[in-house]
This record gives sequence, structure tokens and C-alpha cells, in this order.
Amino acid sequence: MNGANVLFEFILCSYFVVCRSYELMEKMLKVYVYREGERPIFHQPKMRGIYSSEGWFMKLMEGNKKFVVRDPRKAHLFYMPFSSQMLRNTLENNNSQSHRDLEGYLQNYVDLISGKYRFWNRSRGVDHFLVACHDWASKITRQPMGNCIRALCNANVARGFKIGKDTTLPVTYVRSVEDPARDIGGKPPLERSVLAFFAGSMHGYLRPILRHYWENKEADMKILGPMPRDIDSKRAYREYMKSSRYCICARGYEVHTPRIVEAIFYECVPVIISDNYVPPFFEVLNWEAFSLFVKESDIPKLRDILLSIPEEEYLRMQMGVRMVQKHFIWHKRPAKYDLFHMVLHSIWHNRIFQLKTR
Ligand SMILES: *[C@@H]1O[C@H](CO)[C@@H](O)[C@H](O)[C@H]1NC(C)=O
Ligand SMILES: *[C@@H]1O[C@H](CO)[C@@H](O)[C@H](O)[C@H]1NC(C)=O
Repeated sequence: MNGANVLFEFILCSYFVVCRSYELMEKMLKVYVYREGERPIFHQPKMRGIYSSEGWFMKLMEGNKKFVVRDPRKAHLFYMPFSSQMLRNTLENNNSQSHRDLEGYLQNYVDLISGKYRFWNRSRGVDHFLVACHDWASKITRQPMGNCIRALCNANVARGFKIGKDTTLPVTYVRSVEDPARDIGGKPPLERSVLAFFAGSMHGYLRPILRHYWENKEADMKILGPMPRDIDSKRAYREYMKSSRYCICARGYEVHTPRIVEAIFYECVPVIISDNYVPPFFEVLNWEAFSLFVKESDIPKLRDILLSIPEEEYLRMQMGVRMVQKHFIWHKRPAKYDLFHMVLHSIWHNRIFQLKTR
């Protein structure tokens, strides 16, 4: 085995069981996708924008031939294919925006499938799953779908996200549906001249603190507010990510941010500042090997923390970023260990985990 493979094993297979469970999934897993549910909330994936990971998963799962079975009696897992973004948008247009209405809509759906099939009642929903990226998804599914395995972008342990049952859906800001991996990559580590980069809107309480301490304070800290939305500014944003050593992933209104996957995409070491966030695939990936977690209260010390990291440690993390990159990329035709398979694996993993600890 060469060095890269050893590192790969180290990062992906933090313990033997997980490697086996991925291979086992490829061999065994059967998923039933409920046909019930009306468009546009169900069965209509949105592939672009900030919530697109739920759309990509839905599209790839519904179109999958390997895992999907027509006969629900053969399934290990049951997928409820709705879009939390479309749920919010559709009901919002009907002038009813409250969480309660969205909850009620999902409860009706559960009543529908539990009345029609025996699978929900058989397990009280524990072998059912949903994949949802809207900020509200955590809240509106907690009641009607509380026993289900929930793959959520808003993975906040302080707000009902249950480690071992729920799983983190990475936030992917897909710009090109034709080629979700367009512009991937960045400068080699030694050519990265900016120590730390952040730009974004001042959503939530944390980012103004970040800006207060670090905007225009040190030449190597590019900590900015919102950048304009024109093409040139978007290119400049990508260039910063491609030429910075560390990319600051500070929480917004909620704990999750697309910057983590963006940083990995542009081969910048992510610095996660979001105290209650559970990072994606943490049951499989050794996050410490390719990213940094900085406590929200340590923002004043941010530069010292980054400067205290030895060069070889930085190089190791940056190489780690490149090693895990493939786990965070969508493909129109899913590839082994890619984002589609990793999300599905995390759901499968949690199901196995529950069976073992029951
Ligand atoms: C929204 O309102 C329209 C017209 O009142 C209705 O036909 C439709 O079913 C409603 N949509 C949802 C999701 O409740
Ligand atoms: C499942 O349970 C619900 C509530 O107890 C009941 O209304 C429904 O008919 C049951 N479903 C089936 C298929 O028996």
C-alpha cells in the first residue's frame, strides 16, 4: 500500500467496522421510495442553489437502479422523497407560513403512508428516512417524523439533532447542474498567500464578531463583509478560496454553512466556527485530520491559533482536504464514495447502529 492509500484508510476508515459497513451497503442495501406525495413538494428535485443537496439526493435516489426496489417487502430503508425548500415555498405562497402548517402537511403524509402500507406502523418509522436542507426542516420534522433517520443540513445538537439517529447532510452550493465539479481545485499549499479568508452576509450573531475583530486588522487576514453578487465578485470570491491557507466557516443564522464544502472544493483547510454543529460523515471521516474547529469564544485568538500550527501539520491537513474532496462532490451518475453514496451510507450506518444498540 502506498502512502496516499494509508492516509486514505486513516481518514476514511477510522475504524474497521465503517469500511465494512460501506462495502456491506454496496452489496446489500435495498431502499423503497414511496410514490405517494404530490409535486412540487414531492418528487420534484431542485438542483441549484443553497438547498440543492436535498434535490441532488432526491434525483439520484429516485433514479437509482442499484439500491431501489419496487417491492417494499424487500427494503431495509424507506425514503420519503420531499423537498423541504419546496414545502416552505409552496405553502408560503398560499399565505400560510407557520411551522405548524408545514408540520401538519407532513403529518398528513405520514398518515397517508401509514394507512396505506404496514411498514410505518411495523417500525414506528425508525427504518424510514428523509433528506432535507432547509433551515426549518429540523423543526418541522421533529414531531411527525421524529423516529425517522433525518439527514439534515441544520445539524444542531442543541436543537433536536440526535447523534446516532440523525445524520448531517452537507450544504452544497451547486452553481452548475451540468458540471457540479466545475472549477474544482486551488493553488498548491506553498502558493497560498492569504492566511485566512471569509466573506459573507452578517447573518446571525457570530459573523459581526468575526468582522469586528479581524476586518482590516492584519494584511494576511482577509475577513470581509458581503461581496457583491456580480460575476467578477463571484470569481474574486473563488480566487480567495483558491489562494488562502485557511477558509473560515463561521455559522450564519443557523449552524450550517456552504463554506465547509466550498473550502474542501477549493482545497482550502476549513476552520469551522459553529459550536453546536455536527460535521457531515463524522462517523467515518476523521475531521481533525483535514480541518480545524475553533470555539466561537476563541475568535479574538483566531490568528494566533492559525499561526501556531506547524507547517508540516498544515501541509498534512491540506493533503487531507484533497483526499476527502471526492466525498463531497455530486455526479450526475453517482460514483463509489461520492457524496450521494456517503449520504446514503451515513443513513445506513445509523440504521445498523440502532439495530446493534437496541
Ligand atoms: C395552495 O392553494 C391552492 C388554491 O387554494 C390549492 O389548490 C393547493 O392545493 C394549495 N397547496 C397546498 C400545498 O396546500
Ligand atoms: C397504522 O396505525 C394507524 C394509527 O394507529 C392506523 O390508523 C392505521 O390504519 C395503521 N395502518 C395499517 C396499515 O394498519
